Amino acid sequence: MHSFSEFSTLFNERFSAKQFPEQPANLYRATDYFLQIGGKRIRPVLCLLGNELFEEVRPDAWSAATAIELFHNFTLIHDDIMDKAPLRRGVPTVHSHFGENTALLAGDVMMIQAYHWLSHVSSAYQSSLLPLFNRTATEVCEGQQLDMDFETRDNVSLDEYLHMIKLKTSVLLACALQMGAIIGGAGQRNQELVYSFGLQLGLAFQVQDDYLDAFGDPEKFGKQTGGDILANKKTFLLIHALQTATAADKKRLLDLLNSNPADKVAQVLAIYKNCGVDQWALALKQQFLDKALDNLEQVAVLSARKAPLKALAAYLIQREV
Ligand code: IPE
Ligand code: IPE
Ligand code: MG
Ligand code: MG
Ligand code: MG
Repeated sequence: MHSFSEFSTLFNERFSAKQFPEQPANLYRATDYFLQIGGKRIRPVLCLLGNELFEEVRPDAWSAATAIELFHNFTLIHDDIMDKAPLRRGVPTVHSHFGENTALLAGDVMMIQAYHWLSHVSSAYQSSLLPLFNRTATEVCEGQQLDMDFETRDNVSLDEYLHMIKLKTSVLLACALQMGAIIGGAGQRNQELVYSFGLQLGLAFQVQDDYLDAFGDPEKFGKQTGGDILANKKTFLLIHALQTATAADKKRLLDLLNSNPADKVAQVLAIYKNCGVDQWALALKQQFLDKALDNLEQVAVLSARKAPLKALAAYLIQREV
C-alpha cells in the first residue's frame, strides 16, 4: 500500500508536463508552463488510493488519474481568469503571463487531453467512468457559476454556500475516488460510500481553502491572500461574520462589500477575527471530517487498508498550501 506522498511522487514521475506538441508554441508554452509547476496532486492520488483501497493499482488507474489532474488544471486556469487572480502555485497565473485568450485555449486543450486519457481506459470501465466524469465536469461548471453569482449578493446562506462548494470542489474529489474504486473492482455500495467520503472531505478541503485565502501565509499558500475578500466572494468566513458580528461590525462589513478602500482586506480580516472565525472554521472542518470518516468506516474492506486515506484527510484540513 502507498501513502499520499508516495503516490504523489510516483504520479509526478509518470505525469509528463509535456502532454502536447511544439506548435503553435504560443499555446503549448502556456500549457507546459502550468503543468510543470506541479501542485499537490490530490485528485490523481485520490484516484490511486481509491483503487488501492480494494485491489492492487491497475494501469487504468494511472490513465484515469492523469485525466483527472488535467481536468483539474483546466479548471484552475479558467478559474484564475474568472477570479482575476495574479498568482497560482507561487508563480504568475497563466492568463497574467500569456494573456487571457491563450489561457482560455490552454485550459480547453487540457480538458480535451483529459478525454484522450480517459479513452485509454479499458473499454470494460468506460460505461461507468464516462457518465461519472461527465456529470462531475458539468457540476463543476455549475458550481463556478454559482460562485460568481454569489459575488453580487450579500444574503447568501450557509446552505447555499455549502451547495456551491460541493459543486465547484467536492464532486471532483469524490469522482476521483469513485473512479479509482471502480477500477479497483469495488461493488456499488462501496463505491457510494467512497464517493460520500470524498464529498464530505471536499467540503472540509474548500473550507480550509477559504480560510487560507484570508489567513494563509502568502509565501507558502502560493496564491494572493485576500483575493476572496477583494472579489466579494461569499465564503463561510463572510457568511459567518455577517451572522455573528456586532451591529457596528456588520454595518462596516456591508459597507465594505460595496466599496473598495485601499485597506479593505485588513479591515475585513479584523472583523473576521472579532467574530472568532478561527474556532468556527475548526468546528466546521471537524464536522465534515467526522462525516467523511464515518463513510469510510463503513466501506467493507479491512480497516488497515483505509489508513492512507485517513492520513490524507487529516492532512488536507490542516494544510498550509
Ligand atoms: C485548488 O485546488 C482549487 C480548489 C478547489 C480550492 P488545489 O489546492 O488542490 O490546487 P493544486 O493542484 O494543489 O495547485
Ligand atoms: C476553485 O475555487 C474551484 C475550482 C477551480 C473549480 P477557488 O476559486 O476558491 O480556488 P482557488 O482558491 O482559486 O484555488
Ligand atoms: Mg480562484
Ligand atoms: Mg473561484
Ligand atoms: Mg480559494
